[in-house]
Amino acid sequence: MATQPIAILGTGAYLPERILGNREIAQRVETSDEWIVTRTGIRERRIAEAAETTADMAAAAGRSALENAGISADQIDLIILATLTPDLAMPATACLVQQKLGVTVRAACFDVNAACTGFIYALDVAWAMLSSGRYRHALVIGAEKLSSVLDWSDRSTCVLFGDAAGAAVLGPARTAGAGIVGTRLHTLPSPADLLYIPGPEVSPNPEDKRRLLRMKGKEIFKFAVRAMEDVARELLEQHQIASHQIDCVIPHQANLRIIDAIAHHLKLPLDRFFINVDRYGNTSAASIPLALHEARTQGRIRPGELTLLVAFGAGLTYGGALVRW
Ligand code: ACO
Repeated sequence: MATQPIAILGTGAYLPERILGNREIAQRVETSDEWIVTRTGIRERRIAEAAETTADMAAAAGRSALENAGISADQIDLIILATLTPDLAMPATACLVQQKLGVTVRAACFDVNAACTGFIYALDVAWAMLSSGRYRHALVIGAEKLSSVLDWSDRSTCVLFGDAAGAAVLGPARTAGAGIVGTRLHTLPSPADLLYIPGPEVSPNPEDKRRLLRMKGKEIFKFAVRAMEDVARELLEQHQIASHQIDCVIPHQANLRIIDAIAHHLKLPLDRFFINVDRYGNTSAASIPLALHEARTQGRIRPGELTLLVAFGAGLTYGGALVRW
C-alpha cells in the first residue's frame, strides 16, 4: 500500500505532423471512408516520418509533460516507457529517451511491453516504486511507431492504428486528497495469435510481410468489452466507488463501438468518456496518456475530480487505474 500519496503532476503529448485520412488509405486497399467510420469511428491517424523513431516521439512527449508539471529533467530519477515498437531490441528505448532529454542524474530506465495496456502497467510500476520512497519523480511514457509494424496491404488492420506519444510525470502529491487511488492489472491466458507481431522465427528477413502485425479482430473486440468492464467494476468495488461518481473515463482508444459498449455496460452516459479515436486511431501504449493530456488541456478534468483509466491489449492484457486530481 502507498506510504505517501503519489499523483500525476503533469501530462504531455507528441503527434507526428503527417495526417493520413481514410480516403487516402482507400486508394491503396479495398476499403472506404464510410466502412472505417461506421465500424471503428476512426477518420484519420498520424504517421511518423521514416527517420522519426519511438524514442524521438517519447522524448518530445516527455519534454511536454515535464514542462506541464514544472519539473526539470534532472529531478526525474525513474523513466518507464511503455511500447511495443522499441527503437532497438536493446537497449531499452527508455535509456535513449533519458539521453535525448539530457537527464544527467542517471535515472533508472526501462521499457514495459503490455501492448495497448502498456501505459497502465507502467503507471502501476511507477506508483509502486515511488510509494516505496526510493524514487522521487517518475516520467511514465507511452510511445508507438505502429506504422512500421503494419501490413499496409491488410485492410483488416492497417486502417486501425496510428503513431503518437503521451507522457505523465508522477511525484509526491501537491494537493491534499489528490493522487493515484488504485490500479489493477490482469492478463487473460490466451493464444498469442489473436494479436501478435512475429519475430525472426517466421523469416530472418525483417522486410518479410509475415513479420508484421496480425490480429483476429472479432475475438479481440469481444474480449475488449468484457475485460474493460470487468476491471472497471473490480476497481470500483475495491474502492467502494459507484460508477456515477466517476467524472471522466479515459478508455483505450481502439474503436468507438467498443467505447460505446462499455459505456452501455457500466450504465454511464457516453459524454462521460473522453474520445479522440476519430483523430488518431489506435496508438496502443500512447493512447491513454495522449487522451489524458488532451482531456486535461480541454478542461475535461478538474481539481478534485475522479478519473478512470481503462485499457486492453495483446496478451491478452488489461488493466485500470483510478486517479483523483
Ligand atoms: N474495409 C472494408 N471491409 C473490411 C475492412 C475494411 N477496412 N476490414 C474488414 N472488412 C470486411 C471483412 O473482410 C468482412 O468481410 P466478409 O464479411 O466478406 O468476410 C467484413 O468487413 C466484416 O468484418 P469483421 O471483422 O466481422 O468486422 P467487424 O465489425 O468485427 O470490425 C474490426 C472489424 C474493426 C477490426 C473490429 O473487429 C475491431 O475493432 N476489433 C478490435 C480490434 C482492436 O481493438 N485491436 C487492438 C487491440 S489493442 C493492441 O494491443 C494493439
